[in-house]
Amino acid sequence: QTIYLKDYTPPAWLVEDVHLTFRLAPRATRVTSRVRFVPNPEATAREFFLHGEELKLISCHIDGRSVTPEVTPEGLTCDVPDGPFTWEAEVEISPETNTALEGLYMSSGMYCTQCEAESFRKITYYPDRPDVMAPFTVRIESDLPVMLSNGNPVAQGQGWAEWHDPWKKPSYLFALVAGNLVNHPDSFTTMSGREVELNIWVRPGDLHKCAFGMEALKKSMKWDEEVYGREYDLDIFNIVAVDDFNMGAMENKGLNIFNSSAVLASPETSTDANFERIEAIIAHEYFHNWTGNRITCRDWFQLCLKEGLTVYRDSQFTSDMRSAPVKRISDVIDLRARQFPEDQGPLSHPVRPESFQEINNFYTATVYEKGAEVIGMLKRLVGDEAYARALDLYFERHDGDAATIEDWLKVFEDVTDRDLTQFKRWYSQSGTPRLKVTEEWTPADASRPPSRDLAANPEAPDQVRGGTGTYTLTFEQHTPPTPGQRDKAPQVLPIAVGLLTPNGDEVVPTTLLEMTEAKQSFSFDGLTRKPVPSLLRGFSAPVVLEREASREERLFLLAHDTDSFTRWEASRDLARASMLGALTDPSKGPDRTWLEALRGVVRDTELDPAYRALLLALPGENEMAQTLHERGITPDPEAIHSTRQAHLQARAELWQANLPILAEEVAVTAPYRPDAEQSGKRALGAAVLDMQSRIDWGKTAARQFETADNMTQQLSALACLIRYDAKNSARYIRDFYDQWKDDRLVIDKWFMLQVSEATPDRAAEAAEGLTQHPDFDLKNPNRFRATLGALAMNHAGFHRADGAGYALLADWLIRLDTLNPQTTARMCSVFQAWRRYDADRQALIRSNLERIAAKPDLSRDVAEMVGRILA
Ligand code: ARG
Ligand code: ZN
Repeated sequence: QTIYLKDYTPPAWLVEDVHLTFRLAPRATRVTSRVRFVPNPEATAREFFLHGEELKLISCHIDGRSVTPEVTPEGLTCDVPDGPFTWEAEVEISPETNTALEGLYMSSGMYCTQCEAESFRKITYYPDRPDVMAPFTVRIESDLPVMLSNGNPVAQGQGWAEWHDPWKKPSYLFALVAGNLVNHPDSFTTMSGREVELNIWVRPGDLHKCAFGMEALKKSMKWDEEVYGREYDLDIFNIVAVDDFNMGAMENKGLNIFNSSAVLASPETSTDANFERIEAIIAHEYFHNWTGNRITCRDWFQLCLKEGLTVYRDSQFTSDMRSAPVKRISDVIDLRARQFPEDQGPLSHPVRPESFQEINNFYTATVYEKGAEVIGMLKRLVGDEAYARALDLYFERHDGDAATIEDWLKVFEDVTDRDLTQFKRWYSQSGTPRLKVTEEWTPADASRPPSRDLAANPEAPDQVRGGTGTYTLTFEQHTPPTPGQRDKAPQVLPIAVGLLTPNGDEVVPTTLLEMTEAKQSFSFDGLTRKPVPSLLRGFSAPVVLEREASREERLFLLAHDTDSFTRWEASRDLARASMLGALTDPSKGPDRTWLEALRGVVRDTELDPAYRALLLALPGENEMAQTLHERGITPDPEAIHSTRQAHLQARAELWQANLPILAEEVAVTAPYRPDAEQSGKRALGAAVLDMQSRIDWGKTAARQFETADNMTQQLSALACLIRYDAKNSARYIRDFYDQWKDDRLVIDKWFMLQVSEATPDRAAEAAEGLTQHPDFDLKNPNRFRATLGALAMNHAGFHRADGAGYALLADWLIRLDTLNPQTTARMCSVFQAWRRYDADRQALIRSNLERIAAKPDLSRDVAEMVGRILA
């Protein structure tokens, strides 16, 4: 059954308040609800419907009188009074057998919940939609020492606790936790002087992994006050770490629940990348308190209203805490790796989808990451100051609302007097726009009027007016058809450009061109010589730039560009071109000129090591497959793998003499800190270690493996040993396991590394072998992703010509679907790019997808995903 945005109707009944009582028992938890309903004056219909799934209804009453509702697998209907009334119901549920991890379930002996998007209905009967908001009072009864819910603690006694959340909220933000937990406490004083109690709750053995998360929380609270003027609004803020969790984390009001991998950290067990991700997710969930909770979504089609904005906010936070250029480049790498294939394949959908079968399938890179890009474009177009005023107005006007994208855009229109009708296409039109660029240089043309855009730029330096030449950039935009959308209208594209003189001076600093038409030209007058363009600075719009710059121009930008993003992009383009050259003409080796130039930049000690590490990274195999596909060439996964390896090998040999000096420069002698400075050095160090290991067969890596006092370096050493020391790698893998067998999060890394670093011919066997390991646990999403997800990430291994990778994954997806549809459906997306490949591979993938589709009792989640991928 498909749900459509256009069918939205307001709820017939609103909720004034909710009282819930939980009597916890693993297989027979009793939930009683008392809900005060009032007619919604905005609605015409009076039908009374409550969502409810997999519930055993014990009894229900209206205004104290027993009633017999009509119950279906989706919910119930009942005759109700015309005016306000009190609904009471008692249901029974079984958290212990809930392997879907939706609703109330158990994880390592603790009770916890996940209600977003539509799982509160697995806890009790309720209007489970985000536009029904109410204050909640919750009583929990159990023998467990810690019992938590949303809001503030009201009272507690032997075997019970009561919580009250004064802020009205939709049911998806409800949370409950109970268990044998210990806390890492702290406190925060808000800008108006209120004292807030903070806690991170964990299983007893994890208490030493909470300090970093707590610091990240306090930094987030401070940042949101300083940058957005947003203050926290309860007496207490609790975070709980849970081992079994489908996603990263959840922003339940006052009680954030986290996948333990997204909050627990220690130097010995977590990598620098883990620390950075944890800091970002803690910020993200905290920021939801305003963008998500205080202002929520009217319906699930508006998901990007809270997710796009909150991702945008957490990326701003990370840029402020760490390095803005490094964060921007990392975000673009991620966007291209995850969102572009989605936007250009069978799963393509608008940032605000118009229909769905299962909303959990729309927690996507498009809604989240492209949703954040859209906000970044909006901010660039209106300017920082107008953005700040628009956000103030948004918080003032919509506090307490369940809002829409229309509401969001309206605050920008009201603050700026801009008409955002065309800009709104970013929310409704799917697909990645292609942007073609041509340039024209007219040495002297006095007849041309000065460009409006340039005239408006007071920053333009004097050199611009020094000559009489005109430089014109002509852009053409085109978005290929996507499922359900044949014809595309032009989008508003903010294109940031700079112009450089041939000797490397910036003749026109970053200027924003606002493209609104299918084809549009922008001229720069008064130039003395033909400039070199630096286009799409900061990746100012999420498009594919279709411009084949010459190698000379790219080398020039790599050496001279003043914008850190486009400088990196030049390096990326050179790497891509070199690999493409070798792939299309096997007689060609790596581009030596590029490798020489890159060496110069990477040895520049003035540059941030983290940035240099990004310059060094070659596009991944999956990205190369996508690049070939975009050029009409069928990618050969084995050839991509060997070409990329040949490039890495040639570079290591060419740079051999420089490696010891580089390694020395980035060596960290101070005690471990997971900050940007040290992490950057270790990131560059890991790239250097990889090159060294290719030459010394793992000697340096073995030393690092034995002596490292932090997981970042232990793990990067182990990766090199698996790659380059075939003889001894089994021993190192065993040693690592023996050292860390009691730490689940580290053992996840152990599973993952063996699959992701396996050679293409061994990856499927490695994954299959690990599924037989006693520590493999189909019910734990982290472990499943570490094993089977890692296989899909090993591009050449997954796409092995005999189809062993596809078959293994399909087997396990079929098994997992019975237990956990949401995680299964999510992983089906690894098949989305299947039409890129040759006919044999397509046939193999198709037959495996059809095998999944044919599974008896296939979940709605997976049925929708497989159906869309095959369509
Ligand atoms: N709202 C959460 C976040 O982005 C994501 C949780 C969604 N969970 C789900 N089952 N769809 O922080
Ligand atoms: Zn979120």
